[in-house]
Amino acid sequence: MKKKGNTVLVIDGGGRGAVLVHKYSQSPHVSKIIVIPGNDLMKINSQKPVKIFPNLKTTSLKEILKISKKEKVDLADVAQDNAVETGLVDKLTKEKFNVVGPTHAAGQIEWDKAWAREFMKKYKIPSPDYHIFNSQKKAINFINKNPSKRFFIKASGLAEGKGAIPAENAKEAIKAIKQMDRFGKSGETFVIEEWLVGEEFSMFAITDGSTFQILGCAEDYKRLYDRDLGPNTGGIGCITPTSVVNKKIYKQGELIFKKTVLGLASEKRPYKGVLYLGGMVVEGKVFVIEFNARWGDPEAEVLVPGIENDFFELSMNVAQGNLRNFKIIVDGKSRVAVTGSLRPGAINKKRELFGIEKALRLKGITLYGARVTKDKDKYFVSSGRLFHVVGEGKAVIEARKRAYDAMFLLSIEGNNLHFRTDIGWRDVKRLRK
Ligand code: AMP
Ligand code: GLY
Repeated sequence: MKKKGNTVLVIDGGGRGAVLVHKYSQSPHVSKIIVIPGNDLMKINSQKPVKIFPNLKTTSLKEILKISKKEKVDLADVAQDNAVETGLVDKLTKEKFNVVGPTHAAGQIEWDKAWAREFMKKYKIPSPDYHIFNSQKKAINFINKNPSKRFFIKASGLAEGKGAIPAENAKEAIKAIKQMDRFGKSGETFVIEEWLVGEEFSMFAITDGSTFQILGCAEDYKRLYDRDLGPNTGGIGCITPTSVVNKKIYKQGELIFKKTVLGLASEKRPYKGVLYLGGMVVEGKVFVIEFNARWGDPEAEVLVPGIENDFFELSMNVAQGNLRNFKIIVDGKSRVAVTGSLRPGAINKKRELFGIEKALRLKGITLYGARVTKDKDKYFVSSGRLFHVVGEGKAVIEARKRAYDAMFLLSIEGNNLHFRTDIGWRDVKRLRK
C-alpha cells in the first residue's frame, strides 16, 4: 500500500456514496477521489479533490475500466447493487485493481432472492417460510390452496427496492403475482413468503471472504409519511444505534453473519465487502428478511461516520484479505438521518434548494447529497430522494434534535420539500417506557 497520493474510486450516486467520499477524504493516504456517477453536493464535505461523472451509468463496465486505468485508481469501492450484479468487481479484480465489494457470484445473495432463500435454507439461517415460482399460474394455484394466509410476493431480481409486495388476502396476492411482469426479467422468478410480524432492524458487517467484523446496527424508516403510513420507500430516515438490537439480538445477528460468510466461502463465492442483514425480530428471534450486498442507504450515512479507523486502511485490508489483522473501532455515538425528498405529487423539474450554508453552520450535523446539482453558487434538485441530514449526539434525543434543527432551515422553491418529522420515534418511545 502506498502511504500517500492514492486515488480512490467510489461507485455510487447517492447519499451512501457521499458519506464514503467524506470518509475516504479524511485519510492522509488519499489525495483524490473519483465518483461514478456522484453528485455535486458530495464535494462539500470532502477534504480532497473530487471528480464526478454524473452522466455515466454504474453498469457501464468498459468505460469505468477505462477511467480506472486512466486515473490510476489504487482502490475501488463498489457500493451500488446494480454494479455488483453486472460484475464490475470481477472485471476490476481481473485487471489487478484493489476492490471492496462482492463479485457477481457472491452478490447473488442480493440480486437473486430465490437463490438467497435456498442458500439460507442450506446453511440453516432463520428465514420466513417461502415458495419459489417461475409460473404465475402455479403461484395463483398455490394462493387458492392457501386463501386465508398473508404473504409477501417478491420479484427475485433487483427492483430498486420496490419488488416486495405485501398481500393481506388472496385477492391482493393474485394481483401482486400478476404485477411481477412489471419488473421485467427481475420478476420472471418470484418468491412467495410468509408474512412475518415483528420489528425490523439492519445490521452491517464487513468481510474479506474469511473473517468478518460487525460495523453496527440501525433502524430504517421506510414508509413515506409520519406514523409509518404511505408507500414503502428505499428508506427515508434512520437511526443508530437502535434499542431493538439488545445483546441477545446482536448475538443472533453475529451467528447469522458467521454462517453466511462461511457458507458463501464454502460455495466458492467468497464475499469481500459490506454485507447487510435486513432482520426482523419475532418474539425474541431474528429472521432474515433479506441480505443486501452493499451498505444500506441511508444506513451508511449514520454508520460510516462512526468508524474511527482510517477508512482507506480498512478498505485496503478488506480488498487484500487482511481483515484478520485489523481491528475496527466505532465511536458509539448516536446518529439520526432525515431524508429530504420532493413533495409527493410535485412534478419533477429543476428547482432551487435553499438554506444549505445556514444548515451547515449548525453543530453536529452533516449533509449528504443524493440528487443535487450545483450551478454557479446555487444548488438545484429535481426528483427522488434528494439529500440526507445527519445529526449526531451522545444519545438519540440530541442527535434527532440536531438533524431536525438543520432540516427546518432547508427548503425547496415553491415549498416543495418533504421529510418525515418522526424519524426515531420507536427508540424515543422505548426510552420513555
Ligand atoms: P425487501 O425488498 O425484501 O427489503 O422488503 C421490503 C420491506 O418489506 C421490508 O423492509 C419489510 O418491511 C417488508 N417485508 C419483506 N419481506 C417480509 C416478510 N416475509 N414478512 C414481513 N415483512 C416483510
Ligand atoms: N435503506 C434500505 C436499503 O438500502 O436497502
